[in-house]
Amino acid sequence: MAEHSTRDILVTSALPYANGSLHLGHLLEMVQTDIWVRFQKSRGHRCHYVCADDAHGTAIMLTAEKLGITPEEQIQRVQQEHERDTAGFLIGFDNYYSTHSPENRAWSEEIYKRLRANGHIATRAITQAFDPEKQLFLADRFIKGTCPKCKTADQYGDNCEACGATYTPAELIDPVSALSGATPVEKESEHFFFTLPDFADMLKDWTGSGTLQPQIANKLREWLDAGLQEWDISRDAPYFGFEIPDAPGKYFYVWLDAPIGYMASFQNYCEREGIDFDSYWQKDSQAELYHFIGKDIINFHGLFWPAMLHSAELRTPTAIYAHGFLTVNGTKMSKSRGTFIKASTYLQHLDAQYLRYYFAAKLAASVDDIDLNLEDFVQRVNADVVGKVVNIASRCAGFLRKGFDNTLTADCAEPAMVQDFIDAGDTIAALFEGREFNKAIREIIALADRANQYIDDKKPWVLAKEEGSEAEVHAVCSVGINLFRVLMTYLKPVLPAMAEKAEAFLNTSLDWTALSAPLTAHRLEKFQPLITRIDPKQIEAMVDASREEAPATAAAVGKTAPASQDAGKPGKASKAPAATDTIAFEDFAKVDLRVAQIIAADHVEGADKLLRLTLSLGDEQRQVFAGIKAAYAPQDLVGRLTVMVANLAPRKMRFGLSEGMVLAAGPGGEDIFLLTPDSGATVGMQVK
Ligand code: 2FM
Ligand code: ZN
Repeated sequence: MAEHSTRDILVTSALPYANGSLHLGHLLEMVQTDIWVRFQKSRGHRCHYVCADDAHGTAIMLTAEKLGITPEEQIQRVQQEHERDTAGFLIGFDNYYSTHSPENRAWSEEIYKRLRANGHIATRAITQAFDPEKQLFLADRFIKGTCPKCKTADQYGDNCEACGATYTPAELIDPVSALSGATPVEKESEHFFFTLPDFADMLKDWTGSGTLQPQIANKLREWLDAGLQEWDISRDAPYFGFEIPDAPGKYFYVWLDAPIGYMASFQNYCEREGIDFDSYWQKDSQAELYHFIGKDIINFHGLFWPAMLHSAELRTPTAIYAHGFLTVNGTKMSKSRGTFIKASTYLQHLDAQYLRYYFAAKLAASVDDIDLNLEDFVQRVNADVVGKVVNIASRCAGFLRKGFDNTLTADCAEPAMVQDFIDAGDTIAALFEGREFNKAIREIIALADRANQYIDDKKPWVLAKEEGSEAEVHAVCSVGINLFRVLMTYLKPVLPAMAEKAEAFLNTSLDWTALSAPLTAHRLEKFQPLITRIDPKQIEAMVDASREEAPATAAAVGKTAPASQDAGKPGKASKAPAATDTIAFEDFAKVDLRVAQIIAADHVEGADKLLRLTLSLGDEQRQVFAGIKAAYAPQDLVGRLTVMVANLAPRKMRFGLSEGMVLAAGPGGEDIFLLTPDSGATVGMQVK
């Protein structure tokens, strides 16, 4: 292995909003970052990985209000959940903090003051929509109205979902505040701007420096060529955030203090660990700084952030590493298909390492989207990790324990082959370094194939039965274990828990730095199962649970989707909270509500919450799956009348087709009450 000097590296993942649960999309980024960090640490570098919750903004304030708690309580709750889930995925943060912290306040104020002192803050009055009832300014996404082009009602802020038109909220017909329903008024207020155009040259240099991914550099160049705009960094009270120095009632926009949260989290960690914070952030720092992000937030990290750092006379990032979006089974994650999978739901059903491996096997350095194909996932993890890698150890361990005192041979029987495996480490390391994880995995699995081929050829299980072949069995199995050790060293960043078990079994460190020669005359510990196969049933259960979590199995009246299931990114592009949504009368009129009789109700094998209802509408029968099992025993339902949505598009579920939906009220679980019409209603009757 080539000698290298120790590097000082600071790495971040994007800070998740403290407004909702983590889902597999967040985990794609965190797993990518974590593998890279673990790789650097394994190589002996001083690499620090920090993150935090992104705790500020209107969306978080509104969620807290809706839940009847303070924003501080809200962000604390969510942070606990985020920390629990990320730990479950073995994300090894050195520090996980919050942007609502004293360090972040201090740095946000400090950086702002430096920008202001350098003449990079402008102020001017702007006019915006204002909700006179809630007494707050409305971002575009909080205004709804009728599309000026196609006249579809109930369209948000700046674009129409029906015809795709884009417009300003002022152009909406009959605009209303999505928060209160009040008609917005125009109101003027003073705003603070960061003079981004002053940094056009600096950003051109930075973009052209060669460290950025080509797609990102191109995107940034496009923006630079189109001309930069001043960036509005202030928001008026009420706002959950930091007040701007010398500007009472004005707050830093969440995106101003979010990236500063990287510094704040790192400072908090440095103070605890006695690390020299300044040496990482001062202008001439020799340390490396990398931000792993999704491709949707390149502008913040590739323009505003480096420009701010530059003006504040701090160092700029060494590189921004953007990844693409996660799709599941080829399409956007979907609640109705059960593919909008929360981190916690995944962890209830599957080992985190399966997904870590699968992501690694698919991730490259590009910003291309990554697809989690659930069938391929099962097949790949089972074939590679269990069928190939673990198989090497499990084929050899038993013989060594039974016949050879669990000790490897004094000399390695195949030094050239083991050396080949070790030498492959340079290529594999270069691939990990360059975030070409998919290629690294391909190399590793090719080696695993070679190791298995070797064992297949030698057939220790046949030799073991032959008189006088003991030495050969010992030699072959010792080689096998040595090959396994090399492979597990390479896989440790991807499969850390499995590597820990392997370290216990192999009685050696699986750090890259510990790998130089075969283990000889080396005593092993007891072999313990490293990881088990995925049973496709686990996937089905996870998908069902994800589907059942979505409020779609029974249309519970008055039940709103918890904010934690909001697939959107609050504070950026998400829609207004569901509770305040209204629908136009024409939309309501489209819903065909009918009285239906439950003629059969059955348990659904493999579903925790569903019952299969057979409903009669008089002239036809429908099968509907309803998530009401906790509330009703099937026998109590048969014969009863209920209300159903008769014109809902049929939905294919794992258990069969669901052809409508029954209406229910209540918070869920045992407290679901099927809506039943008054006596006198007849089957098939329309409900008005
Ligand atoms: O897009 C998001 O989810 C943001 N919360 C990311 C912030 S990253 C950094 F700038 F803090
Ligand atoms: Zn339209």
